[in-house]
Amino acid sequence: MGKETELKKADYQPIEWLDGKVRILDQTLLPREEVYLDLDDYRDVASAIRELKVRGAPIIGIAGAYGVALGARKINADNTDDFLKNLENIIDTIGATRPTARNLFFALERMKQATVKGKNVPDIKKSLVEEAVQIHREETDATHHLSLFGAELLKDGWTVLTHCNTGPLAASGYGTALGVIITAYRQGRKIKVLADETRPLLQGARLTTWELEKAGVPVTLITDSMAGYFMAKGGVDCVITGADRIAANGDTANKIGTYTLAVLAKENKIPFYIAAPVSTIDISLKTGEQIHIEERKAEEVTRFQSVTTAPEGTLAANPAFDVTPHQYITAIITDKGIIKESYLEGIKRVL
Ligand code: MRU
Repeated sequence: MGKETELKKADYQPIEWLDGKVRILDQTLLPREEVYLDLDDYRDVASAIRELKVRGAPIIGIAGAYGVALGARKINADNTDDFLKNLENIIDTIGATRPTARNLFFALERMKQATVKGKNVPDIKKSLVEEAVQIHREETDATHHLSLFGAELLKDGWTVLTHCNTGPLAASGYGTALGVIITAYRQGRKIKVLADETRPLLQGARLTTWELEKAGVPVTLITDSMAGYFMAKGGVDCVITGADRIAANGDTANKIGTYTLAVLAKENKIPFYIAAPVSTIDISLKTGEQIHIEERKAEEVTRFQSVTTAPEGTLAANPAFDVTPHQYITAIITDKGIIKESYLEGIKRVL
């Protein structure tokens, strides 16, 4: 790859395999505190994923793979059959954490396949660590490729609206949607960002502003409900978000509120882009209607951290994602190239 791949990496490490442990940057404490956690039990990795200490589809996959490698190292079994039975339980526990991010299941499937590479238990344990490191490396490389492809779409002087958090914290490497933005900026285009705060857990306010400020990209925080106002008055040149799962026809699940942005973008004739590695694509699903949407605890809506924001007992709904039908998506930026309608053929081509 060219000069652009030499761009400076983030000065924080959201996840790494270190001395037989998984080190993660606890994203629930950002931006107030930068705390790294060393996890050496796969159950702790599963909890970290469930509690969003580590979050964002690609990095959930990487964490899941490391979790399996970690769990496998502690299995006490003399024969392969017993070992594989124990491993299945570990994979099931990690797979039960968050249902929407395709990357988690992509990584778990790869980890299952990696077991055939070893002839005996110690060999398989070693293969599993190697496979997790390889998944991490590939996902990181994918963010570099897609960022370079996507950066070509952004013009000098543009204001880009983004939702949730899609930087290195969410995907390793450069990130997905934020990777595209940061790359275009570093290539010399004067890009400005409008970042949605992203209710209810404020990934945009807490994490996207933090990452963009570190990258030196000008960012203005807005509440989710301001997006239409800025689009209507001509203050947005394009919208880019990440994805948690993309169906075979291009329908895309992403953080709740993405569908609203896509409809608003179409109404205001603004391009709407999705940026994701191909590991987010699930060709087993014909359309987005089949995507399992994670429903999270109502308390995430009725309180913020320890502060109650609604009367005690208020009923609240909390779907964590929504599905944007493909006809609202101008293009999907992947590490294998940019896909436009027809998504069915384009997706087959990149896979
Ligand atoms: O619930 P989260 O914070 O894991 O949701 C993350 C998102 O929706 C991201 O936009 C998506 O995973 C793409 S991450 C590069």
